[in-house]
Amino acid sequence: MESNTIQILNLPKILDLRGNLSFIEEEKHIPFKIERTYWIYDVPGGEARGGHAYKINCEFIIALSGSFDVMLNEGEEEKRYSLNRSYYGLYVPEMVWRRMENFSTNSLALILSSTGYDEQDYIRDFNDFILLKKNNGKH
Ligand code: TYD
Repeated sequence: MESNTIQILNLPKILDLRGNLSFIEEEKHIPFKIERTYWIYDVPGGEARGGHAYKINCEFIIALSGSFDVMLNEGEEEKRYSLNRSYYGLYVPEMVWRRMENFSTNSLALILSSTGYDEQDYIRDFNDFILLKKNNGKH
């Protein structure tokens, strides 16, 4: 499993007339060990979350309920990933600018993270992000 590529990863799905079931095992269905889990909910209409990048942290984002869009930029162009099912998610490596928007009513975003919360790991200025990308030899 590539750990440096943005990708939609399908999760196991146990279909059952009593209700479906999906699950995630670290380093098996996602390419990292889970250090932290957080979720975003009760997002008012029209709001956006997470205009930032992480230097080290990588994430796996799932729309557990409802739908939202994740906008990702690796330094050149922004691409939109629409999430609206609980049996797949979006893997976001480190050093990717990400923003989340278009949250549907009652949507629930679950985020699995490879590191604990560390404000020092955030890049919150887009120009700083682009500069860092260029200095790393990536575009
Ligand atoms: P932030 O990551 O900036 O939210 P978003 O990217 O969705 O806009 O986090 C918002 C606030 O929550 C910020 O003050 C830090 C705090 N926070 C934690 O304490 N622990 C966490 O794991 C996260 C994700 C945020």
